[in-house]
Amino acid sequence: MSNLPLAKTPPMGWNSWNTFGWNINEELIRGIADKFVELGLKDAGYEYVVIDDCWSEKERDENGRLVPDRNKFPNGIKPVADYVHSKGLKFGIYSCAGTHTCAGYPGSFEHEFVDAQTFAEWGVDYLKYDYCYRPIHAPGENLYKRMGMALRNCGRDIVFSACNWGNDDVWRWIRESGAQLYRSTGDIQDNWQSIKNIVVSQIDRECYGGTYCWNDMDMLTVGMHGKGDNTEVLGGEGKLAGCSDIQYKTHFALWAMMNSPLMIGCDIRKASSEALKILSNKEIIEINQDIEGRGPYCIKQWNNPDHVFSLIKPLSGGDYAIGMFNLSDSASEMSLQFFDIGLPTASGYGLSFHECHSGEDEGVFTERRAVRLEPHDCYVYRCKLVKVK
Ligand code: GAL
Repeated sequence: MSNLPLAKTPPMGWNSWNTFGWNINEELIRGIADKFVELGLKDAGYEYVVIDDCWSEKERDENGRLVPDRNKFPNGIKPVADYVHSKGLKFGIYSCAGTHTCAGYPGSFEHEFVDAQTFAEWGVDYLKYDYCYRPIHAPGENLYKRMGMALRNCGRDIVFSACNWGNDDVWRWIRESGAQLYRSTGDIQDNWQSIKNIVVSQIDRECYGGTYCWNDMDMLTVGMHGKGDNTEVLGGEGKLAGCSDIQYKTHFALWAMMNSPLMIGCDIRKASSEALKILSNKEIIEINQDIEGRGPYCIKQWNNPDHVFSLIKPLSGGDYAIGMFNLSDSASEMSLQFFDIGLPTASGYGLSFHECHSGEDEGVFTERRAVRLEPHDCYVYRCKLVKVK
């Protein structure tokens, strides 16, 4: 176990839930790990391959230990973790603070320390920890502290990913539990409305996330195109709507700018080249992974403040990331006045704009930047201060 703190920058990886729900197995996880390397996702910074709910048998063994599902993981979990490690990646698993997981498998309530031990023995590097079937009189805050303590003393570095959907004002107490990330909203769905709702609910919450404890806006749906399978588990109504590539591009840019962990949720073995391009955008990932971990602030457009806005994120070394977003359903002009970001005209400075999707340098602007944005589209700029007079 290292003494280094974990998750200095938002964790990046893949999680099985969005696309596969209960339908997971050893072969799938091995295939995903292979693709991480082949597709360059590992080089782009994605690291954790995480199995979500539905990996275990319905009962613990006679020693109270969790048992991997005999059909899905016939060789147990350790060989799967070993395989993921052999690719230079890290391996994650899932449990729950309640008596049962959301899909009805054994949870870790009153088994926190033995489960942390089991995970350490299997070579787990990341634990997603859910909130279903919590005994009503057991405060969630205490349950996350229990697992936090168990993980921090299990002899292995295990990132603790809390998932209580933003309930109980989680942002007020989660950092002290030792968790490195915490879900702040209900489950994302593969449609534009869901993405938009999550973003709107987290704007102005930037101050609650940061280095070593990140606001997790849920797994990405980029590249799913309506192919998710988890509605079956949740009793939903068949296929999800999916998004357009522009919507996925904006989804990814928002998660990156807002310092959310970047956990891919699509079947990367079948992802389109456009989806892989979005997920591998080096310049956008650099903004998300900036070492200072400062959250953005929001400057809202006066005539449509909820849906047209800029996010401004100070980066280490003096650059600024500026994302301009149009979440509304019609095209919009938008104008960012530089005095709103602390740059007075009298300073003699302007800002150079480099767009991170097109890769183009768009020149130096003074006083303001005005753009026209198509519905659901965005620009993400890396800006530098430039002396103009
Ligand atoms: C939900 C959680 C999802 C997924 C699911 C598994 O509570 O928010 O991300 O883990 O449980 O049953």
